[in-house]
Parts: sequence; C-alpha cells; structure tokens
Amino acid sequence: MHAVALAVAVIVRLRYPDVARHIVFDCPGPLDGLSVDRCPGNRCGAAGWAVCATAASDRWPCQPAPGLVVRWPQKISLVLIANFPVPMTNSTKPPDIANRYDEGTARHYSAVHRGSWSRRISSWREISLARRALALAGNPESVLDMPCGAGRFWPMLARTSARRLLAGDNSPAMLAAAVAGAAPATRARFEVSPMDAFALPLADAAVDHVLCMRLLHHFAAPADRLRILREIHRVARSGATISLWVDGNLQARRRRCQEARRDPAFPPNRIIVARAVIEAELVEAGFRIRKRLDMLHWIGKRRLYVLDKV
Ligand SMILES: C[S@@+](CC[C@H](N)C(=O)[O-])C[C@H]1O[C@@H](n2cnc3c(N)ncnc32)[C@H](O)[C@@H]1O
Repeated sequence: MHAVALAVAVIVRLRYPDVARHIVFDCPGPLDGLSVDRCPGNRCGAAGWAVCATAASDRWPCQPAPGLVVRWPQKISLVLIANFPVPMTNSTKPPDIANRYDEGTARHYSAVHRGSWSRRISSWREISLARRALALAGNPESVLDMPCGAGRFWPMLARTSARRLLAGDNSPAMLAAAVAGAAPATRARFEVSPMDAFALPLADAAVDHVLCMRLLHHFAAPADRLRILREIHRVARSGATISLWVDGNLQARRRRCQEARRDPAFPPNRIIVARAVIEAELVEAGFRIRKRLDMLHWIGKRRLYVLDKV
C-alpha cells in the first residue's frame, strides 16, 4: 500500500510540477517547540509551504491539508493537496518558549522519549550522563531539576535515597505531565513548583546542585543565557550540570546547513551554541568547568557541562 501511494506521489510530482509544489510534509505530532524542527514541512518555509496536519493555525502558518496522505516511512507523510493553492493562514512567528510547552506538547514530549528505539537509547544515554555528572559533582545531597519537563530524570535522581529533591518548570502542563508520569514513590520524593529560570523562587545557595538539561539552547541571545546561568549560580551551593547543543560535531554541521535554508521570518526555536561562546558565558556567570560530557563524541550535538561554583 505504501509503495503504491508513494508511486502515485512520485508520478504526480513528475507529471504535474505545479501540483508538485504543493507536495508537502505533515508533522508527526502537534506543531510545537519540539516538533517544529522535526517537521519537514518547516523546511519548505522558503517556498512558502509548510503544511502540518495537526498544527493549530494560530501557532504556525499551516493549514490542515485535504488530500491523499501517504505514510512512508512510518513517521513521514507526504500530503498531496487536492485543491491547491492552499491559502496560508496569517503568518505568526513561533510563540516564545514560555508559551510553547502546553498540554499537547507535554503529552507529545513524554511520548517521544518513550517512542522509537533510537529515542529511548538517546534518552537512556542522556540520563546515564546526568547520573555520571552528579557522581562527578560528589553526589550532591540536594538537587534541583530545572527545567524538569516531563520528569525524565526523576527516577534516576530518586534512586539516591538520602537526597533532597526539588523540581520546577515554567510550564504547568509539563509539571503536570511529570507528576502524572511519575511512580507514586518517586513523586513523593520531589518538592515540585512552577519556576521561571530567569527568577528562581529559591534563596541563595538553596540546593547543592542544579540540573539544567536542554534549556539553554532555546535562547539565542547571550544575555538571556547569562541571566539564567547567574540564577543557577545564585541558588546552587556547590555547582550545576547544564546541557545544551554545541558546535564541533556532525549533527551541528547538519543543523547549520538546514538553518541556512530556513525562512528568516521563522527563526529556529533551538540553536547551536559555539563551545567557545558558552564556555565563556559559564565562566562569566561564575562557574569553573569540571568536566565536559558529550552524548556522542564528534557526532552528537548534545553536551553536558559539569560545573563548580567558583
Ligand atoms: C526541552 S524541555 C527539557 C525538559 C527536561 N529538562 C528534559 O531534558 O527532559 C525544555 C523545558 O524548559 C521549560 N522552560 C522553558 N522556558 C523556561 C523558563 N524560562 N523557566 C523554566 N522552564 C522553562 C519548558 O517548559 C520545557 O519543559
């Protein structure tokens, strides 16, 4: 069935170049901070087409597309738009990160990391690295997981029984997903509250260590990253672990090529931060780098920094 549908798509594409302009991709999930980058339609921005089946029209210039949907391979769908041209909705820039993690996204985020084997392996590796980072930091007695997202790190954090655990995120939906997804015994270990990384509702040196995974690469402005790093520095007594996307690897190269083709009207919601830049920011915020841990040397863009407070 897939082969037939794909053949139809290819024939239409060759025979009717005009229609071919309207062969677009849909998104695997709700169009949000997480899936925008995985939505191939997003790469069609320069041509003016980004059709994402599940996107809310006020969040991205996408239209639900009537037509033949061909699932091939599993996650990528080719959509032939029957009644073209499909008008674009009024363009709105992607919402800023604070509003991006709504209920749909939270559900999607939890599911994504438990989805394909590659995602599971990548999440497992990330959690292992976070555990290693905490060991390198001397197994701190109190840890703040911020942003905690859907609580991916909670089971690992809760494995150390004497540890005091706090968790925060500025998205109520993500917090709710974390609480709902945690085993009762794990949930009971955490003091959970809404938190804005720019103004953490904690006293100075309130926790030994802050675990800040996958937040900083959402902020393109160095001043924003620095503000967050200073807040982490303030509330941490001894140090922190942060993770973000850095350059100097194959994925970052690929990403930059993709970015070069992006419609400038729609800036990316996540960026590659040059290692030299983030490392200078870490020092400026008052940290010393104890260790750099890469997800996959030379290949993966995700890096963890284990930091000591100076
Ligand atoms: C990519 S998720 C990472 C979540 C978690 N650390 C993980 O790795 O699974 C980014 C998270 O940052 C949160 N976030 C975005 N801006 C924030 C802010 N200003 N303060 C606190 N959390 C924020 C989002 O709600 C989202 O849960």
